[in-house]
Amino acid sequence: QVIHLADYRPTDFVLERVDLTFELDPTETKVEARLIFHRRPGADPAAPIVLDGDELTLSGLLLDQVELDPSRYDATPESLTVRDLPESAPFELTITTVINPEANTKLMGLYRTGGIYCTQCEAEGFRRITYFPDRPDVLAAFTVNIIADKDANPLLLSNGNFLGGAGYGPGKHFAAWFDPHPKPSYLFALVAGDLGVIEDTFTTMSGREVVLKIYVEHGKEPRAAYAMDALKRSMKWDEVRFGREYDLDIFMIVAVSDFNMGAMENKGLNVFNDKYVLADPEIATDADYANIEAIIAHEYFHNWTGNRITCRDWFQLCLKEGLTVYRDHEFSSDQRSRAVKRIAEVRHLKSEQFPEDGGPLAHPVRPTKYREINNFYTTTVYEKGSEVTRMIATLLGKDGFKKGMDLYFDRHDGQAVTIEDFVKCFEDASGRDLTQFSLWYHQAGTPLVTASGSYDAAAASFTLSLEQMIPATPGQPSKEPMHIPLSLALFGENGGKIEPTSVDGAEYIGEVLHLTGRTQTATFHGIASRPVVSINRGFSAPINLHFDQSPADLALLARHETNHFARWQALTDLALPNLLKAARDAREGKPVVCEATFIETLIAAAADDALEPAFRAQALALPSESDIARELGGNNDPDAIHAGRQAILKQIADAGKDVFAGLYAAMTTSGDFSPDAKSAGLRALRNTALTYLSHAEQTPARAKAAFDAANNMTDLSHALTILAHRFPDSAETSEALASFRDRFAENALVIDKWFAIQAGIPGAKTLERIRALMDNPLFKRSNPNRMRALVGTFAFANPTGFGRADGDGYRFLAGQILDIDERNPQLAARILTSMRSWRSLEPARAEHARLALIEIERAADLSTDVRDIVERTLKG
Ligand code: ARG
Ligand code: ZN
Repeated sequence: QVIHLADYRPTDFVLERVDLTFELDPTETKVEARLIFHRRPGADPAAPIVLDGDELTLSGLLLDQVELDPSRYDATPESLTVRDLPESAPFELTITTVINPEANTKLMGLYRTGGIYCTQCEAEGFRRITYFPDRPDVLAAFTVNIIADKDANPLLLSNGNFLGGAGYGPGKHFAAWFDPHPKPSYLFALVAGDLGVIEDTFTTMSGREVVLKIYVEHGKEPRAAYAMDALKRSMKWDEVRFGREYDLDIFMIVAVSDFNMGAMENKGLNVFNDKYVLADPEIATDADYANIEAIIAHEYFHNWTGNRITCRDWFQLCLKEGLTVYRDHEFSSDQRSRAVKRIAEVRHLKSEQFPEDGGPLAHPVRPTKYREINNFYTTTVYEKGSEVTRMIATLLGKDGFKKGMDLYFDRHDGQAVTIEDFVKCFEDASGRDLTQFSLWYHQAGTPLVTASGSYDAAAASFTLSLEQMIPATPGQPSKEPMHIPLSLALFGENGGKIEPTSVDGAEYIGEVLHLTGRTQTATFHGIASRPVVSINRGFSAPINLHFDQSPADLALLARHETNHFARWQALTDLALPNLLKAARDAREGKPVVCEATFIETLIAAAADDALEPAFRAQALALPSESDIARELGGNNDPDAIHAGRQAILKQIADAGKDVFAGLYAAMTTSGDFSPDAKSAGLRALRNTALTYLSHAEQTPARAKAAFDAANNMTDLSHALTILAHRFPDSAETSEALASFRDRFAENALVIDKWFAIQAGIPGAKTLERIRALMDNPLFKRSNPNRMRALVGTFAFANPTGFGRADGDGYRFLAGQILDIDERNPQLAARILTSMRSWRSLEPARAEHARLALIEIERAADLSTDVRDIVERTLKG
């Protein structure tokens, strides 16, 4: 069944209030929902009410406290329909359901994890708890009463403010919560059990004191300290940057170990995958710390962008996600290095979103139809959605954007709105027409901009010809030209910036060139010598750019661009042709030779102490094998790509051996471990130097010494990765893997790393290792983090292992997907998206992949989640 945006209409009944009572029991939890409705003025006076359900059984139904005659209603697992309701007077339905949290392996609705009751309701999990108008445009204030065994569940939590609690018969107690802010059901949360807590407070800008609590497993409290610090910084930042203040007396976060996603922004009671809460130097890498900071901020920022102002329907998901990702990116940029953060964002966008946008699963940021909404929590909605928000900020400028955001908060607080409402705020605040710009929400596919320049010395002018092309995507064969803001600057041969005296042919304001036509020619006047052009600085637009620049020009930008992101871009543009050629040469059995300007420029950047270490580490991290595959575009042989890239790494390593040895010795941190960005940058550069040294030396000795000497997880896991990925069969590697396992056997999050590192070992033999790891007593099929670590890493991040020539990797995945789907469809569907680029493989592998997909498609009893992904992947 396909849901269409065009079919949207408001409900016939308005929900006034919600009163829920839970009698918790591991296998038989009784839920009583008292819902007060009235018919919407103008609605059909005879219309029945139809409430959503999912695998529910009704065990009681009252209308205004009187038992309803079965002739008045129909209850199925999927819906409850009640007829002959009052024409306009309010009425109350009291609905009783009994659910089994222990048996809930889908991890949607109310489930149990590690002895804790917890909920996940976005997008449509609330209907697994009780019959309800389970859609985001139905907002109400919720009262929640929780009754449970006191010993097993000293903690009884829900959204809003605590009303009170007391005993409730022998061995039991209850607690009541009230959330005064009207909210949709997807923001409901309940947590009960026995957990440890750390507490703090935050005083808001108007002087209100908010209690902050983070709940984790007993004994793990110290590991929540960094998350608490990140939370307080997020609260402060949202006040300063966006003028947003928190609005309840208490803000709680609960960390659980079985969770389908990263975290969830339930009002006042965020529930987190514990991977994004727990950290200390022994168990967390610098990347883990950065993720925790970003996700804590993301969920907190949802309080305004998502909760106070929510989505009218799920087609509008990017209204809250794109905007909130933009906000968390800005937060991390302010807390860390802006250029380095931007590089990381763009790397992620290109490696995850570009393949999605260029493959069978491509969809607009604001889709118009779906079969399963869970499959639209994508990098397109999140990351491209954030880029679209960033472009609005670029178009309007800092002040204009702020005015638009203020208007949005002002105008729509308490409402469930659409992308059109959002864009209108920026139009009204700036007086700018954003009609053409809005195509970014509606047209899928990554635009390709082709540029070419010519310099006219006599006229002292430089002419730039631009052309845009948006590729066809499923359901969208042809596209309109878009409004593409290109940040652009010109540099002279000496590296200094050249300011044109005037520009015609295109709007050029504040160093941003506005490409709006399918083709456009801009002429820059007053240019005294041939300029080197830097286009799409800071990745001002999420596009592919084809612009033929000589290695010498790119080297100049790599050294002199004032925007450090653009320097990184120039280094990447220098690297790519070499990597592409290396892949082709490796495939034909030819020797791989790397061009000299690139190596020299890269090593000069590595040695440049004026550059931040974190930046240098990013510069030295070459495009990945899947980046290379994407750039090659088709007929891809993962083994050749891998071999070519390894050969280039070796040449860089040999040429820069002394520089890398110097960096390895110099980039040390002193004193106690600190996760701050600067220290993390030192570790990143030092570890990158170690990687190159291992390429130069071709022996595991140095990595093994680093492994033995490491005193934090960043260094330890990096050394282990070098050992496993580069020297998988060495004695050093077996020893290191065994010692790592023994040391961390009790720590699930670290053991995930142990599985993931092994799943990423290049080459055809890894599949056998993975099969063996599945029989390891530490492997836990029911845990999503563990599955993502082993099966997810293999399928998403190991092109040569997963893509081995005989197709066994794809067949293995098919088997896993069918198995996971029986328990957890959302997880199965997510991991299956690793097949999205199958058509760009060389013919023999592509055929193996297709047959594996068909094996999945033919299976009986597939979930809607997996069916939707497999059919689109095969068709598109
Ligand atoms: N809203 C959550 C977040 O981005 C994610 C929820 C994901 N839900 C899902 N059904 N996949 O913070
Ligand atoms: Zn979010």
